[in-house]
Amino acid sequence: MEELEQIAAEIRACTACILHRGRTLAVPGEGPADATIVFVGEAPGFHEDQQGRPFVGQAGQFLEELLASIGLRRDQVYITNIVKCRPPGNRDPLPDEIAACSPYLDRQLALIRPKLVVTLGRFSMAHFLPRARISEVHGQPQRVGGIICYPMYHPAAALHQPALRRTVEEDFRRIPEVLAKAEGVAEYQPPPQPEQLRLF
Ligand code: URA
Repeated sequence: MEELEQIAAEIRACTACILHRGRTLAVPGEGPADATIVFVGEAPGFHEDQQGRPFVGQAGQFLEELLASIGLRRDQVYITNIVKCRPPGNRDPLPDEIAACSPYLDRQLALIRPKLVVTLGRFSMAHFLPRARISEVHGQPQRVGGIICYPMYHPAAALHQPALRRTVEEDFRRIPEVLAKAEGVAEYQPPPQPEQLRLF
């Protein structure tokens, strides 16, 4: 079995936290195994739990519009969540649920090795930037170990707050530029040694 599919199978059978009891379907994530960008949301909502796919409700519709604004379709990026099963009534995920589930995300990222991880909302941001405040760091790429993390507000929050919506749209439009810089970082070559310079 392909390794990402192996992780997905483990997630579908997971009983590591209480959320497995209320789920219809777990939502492992979807997208190309070699995606350049990974989007990490919070947790499945009603529709995601029904379908077993991430971001298929209203927030997903908005995410697709945002992707289109930078010339991307959802099947060109990997989309997942920090918590893979729906919390009851869409409540916030609890620390022990995040702790139980986030190793799956780490394993997915280790296989995909994206150039950029875009976190949607504060729960996925906190996994990479535990001390950051989203109001201070949104729209600013952060290097965390070998990963470039680009924190954004959650699209669902933006749907209900017009001012935030503009911020999300602006932060999103900067993704191509942030990605180009992230790729530059990965391809960074040390400057030539002095001996080499003397040849010219
Ligand atoms: N919101 C999320 O954070 N994730 C989804 O999959 C859907 C809505």
